[in-house]
Amino acid sequence: MVDRRKALKVVAGITGAAAVGMAVVPAAAVVAASASPPRLPGRPDDDDGWQAIARWDDLVVGTPRQAHIVGAEVDAWSVSPDRRLGTVWLLRGGEDTASLRALSAVCPHLGCIIERSDAGFVCPCHVSDFSPVGAALRGPSPRSMDPIESRVREGRVEVRWARFRQGTAERIREEG
Ligand code: FES
Repeated sequence: MVDRRKALKVVAGITGAAAVGMAVVPAAAVVAASASPPRLPGRPDDDDGWQAIARWDDLVVGTPRQAHIVGAEVDAWSVSPDRRLGTVWLLRGGEDTASLRALSAVCPHLGCIIERSDAGFVCPCHVSDFSPVGAALRGPSPRSMDPIESRVREGRVEVRWARFRQGTAERIREEG
């Protein structure tokens, strides 16, 4: 009888250890996975936030070109890949890559998308007019179009997307 009890204890011990092991392995896997998060295009941690959105050779001097920022949208619960995170207008002023300018297409008034017009740019929602370089001319937009950091690397036009507070004369960058 004593031997039988001992045998039952041994079996119970083995079963308990196996259960603990099963719990520990997934936990370790989670820690390992979170230690090196995936590189997500469009995220600030992806090449320090820079994203290639066009080729320098495709830009025409004096003709703004619209381009979209595409990347993963991340919230507390999910990652949605290939979302449109923003839209910019790219301006090429000449042969020198230093003449590149990028302007956010998000209207500083209430966030509609700014379009091209004969005079430069216009926001169709409440008719704010902007000059060919994005200066506010008429309408309710409280400030000029917002500049976006841009550069040319190995023939690629890269931007570092940013959002700004709407409805304020002061340009205030929003986080996230
Ligand atoms: S949202 Fe652009 S003018 Fe109102």
